[in-house]
Amino acid sequence: MDNNTLLSVNNLCKTYTAAENRISALKDITFDLNRGELLVVMGTSGSGKSTLLQIIGALDSPDQGKISLNGVLQDKMFMEPYATQYRSENIGFIFQSFHLMKDLSVEENIALPLILKGASGSEVKGKVNEMLDLVGLTSWRKQRPMQLSGGQQQRVAIGRSLIMRPPIILADEPTGNLDFNTSREILNVLIEMKEQLNQSIILVTHDANVAAYGDRILFFHDGEIVDTYVKNTEEADMDCIMDKLRSIMERAS
Ligand SMILES: Nc1ncnc2c1ncn2[C@@H]1O[C@H](COP(=O)(O)OP(=O)(O)O)[C@@H](O)[C@H]1O
Ligand SMILES: [Mg+2]
Repeated sequence: MDNNTLLSVNNLCKTYTAAENRISALKDITFDLNRGELLVVMGTSGSGKSTLLQIIGALDSPDQGKISLNGVLQDKMFMEPYATQYRSENIGFIFQSFHLMKDLSVEENIALPLILKGASGSEVKGKVNEMLDLVGLTSWRKQRPMQLSGGQQQRVAIGRSLIMRPPIILADEPTGNLDFNTSREILNVLIEMKEQLNQSIILVTHDANVAAYGDRILFFHDGEIVDTYVKNTEEADMDCIMDKLRSIMERAS
């Protein structure tokens, strides 16, 4: 492991048994996440993307495999109470549906993780102000989620996921409910977090236009990493991404 590696995922396997069928959702998945990297996991529906994020986020456990963080093997991360501790110290989640508390204001939603942790009033105020500024919602702070657009609601969710400054953000189809322009706006917020906070992010998507924002793309198919794309200039090479995608789709049919 080199010093730039934040997370190491080694030989993850996960099989679900449903109505006598065994589904191999993850088959021997190995990769690293670097510090300050936006890593995209791209694949068609059912390729194992959400399963992977749930395991990295200790919301589910693998049948086999190991995860290390900063070079330290997280051998208890799938057992309570360590799972909860691992999640609260290391992971921020962003989902397709924003999972906001509808009776709380924007600032209260963002503050929630801090309040649950028992932070002081002044700490909450300072950090929430800073986060509202980062996600561009200062003038919306008193509004309820219902009064906001989808893109604004997702920005609240991003603020809430980042308020504890977790080393890793896990984003599962974060633009899945948003139109093209709003998706771009949200992806730019994530890019800003990466650039301003050196935030490490794993983003799952089935959409090549979203994947193109990644520093690196892992192409998933049937629970396996079947191809990788590494961006080496500012602009992603869309032709190359589409070629890789097409070849995976051909393999599938
Ligand atoms: N809780 C579960 N029980 C049984 N099968 C599951 C469960 N969750 C996911 N699967 C199956 O595992 C495979 C991978 O699912 P998932 O990780 O959700 O894929 P993706 O997020 O890429 O669409 C799919 O075949 C799916 O039907
Ligand atoms: Mg999914």
